[in-house]
Amino acid sequence: MTHPKHAAADHDVLAIIRERWSPRAFDTTRPVSMNDLWRLFEAARWAPSSRNEQPWRFVVAHRDHSPQAYQALFTALSSTNQSWAQTAPVLILTAMQLTVELTGEANRLAYYDTGQAVAFLTLQAQSQGLAIRQMEGFSHTVAREVCHVPDGFEPAVVMAVGYPGAPEALASEKHRAAEITPRRRRRASDFVFDGAWDNSFTRDIKGMKDL
Ligand SMILES: Cc1cc2nc3c(=O)[nH]c(=O)nc-3n(C[C@H](O)[C@H](O)[C@H](O)COP(=O)(O)O)c2cc1C
Repeated sequence: MTHPKHAAADHDVLAIIRERWSPRAFDTTRPVSMNDLWRLFEAARWAPSSRNEQPWRFVVAHRDHSPQAYQALFTALSSTNQSWAQTAPVLILTAMQLTVELTGEANRLAYYDTGQAVAFLTLQAQSQGLAIRQMEGFSHTVAREVCHVPDGFEPAVVMAVGYPGAPEALASEKHRAAEITPRRRRRASDFVFDGAWDNSFTRDIKGMKDL
């Protein structure tokens, strides 16, 4: 039986894309190993980036291995995020270098490239049975301080990482319900255009056949 969070995809896509979603409930009894984590960062490592700058950086706060760092990063989260993220065995601060390494000029693609690295990492997690929920709801000032983020780098998101858990463990009724609410998306035809913005990319462009 398919999970209600799996994508009702209109076209054939990889199972890890269809089945990935961002839970709030994590399994508190199932630890995340160092090998699990290294595989995630290896996936991020091989993401493409502008000029091969690889602007992404990660600070790992593992509840079992570095409980003080975990607690410290946890305090940076918004109270809403704290209410569910406490079940996540690992928190990871994602940050990025804002300047090009060689020239020192602003890297306007730092955010873009870091997002791609996180997307690679997230799909790798899915293939390992792990789940990730990214958070923008956190204090950059606190995260910067507790994780010793140097000047020239900027926090992007905190990721909650772990094996998926039972929704019943979540404190908020709204969050429990969200764990089984089907995911909604725009249709691809709403964001793909044929040659120019004012033409929708339809299936039967100028009699083009499926190859
Ligand atoms: C950059 C970014 C920031 C996000 N921030 C939060 C957040 O602060 N709190 C939260 O609960 N979810 C957050 N999310 C999760 C999104 O709400 C979620 O990815 C979106 O609703 C799509 O759901 P799906 O990932 O299950 O497909 C964030 C996701 C991204 C990519």
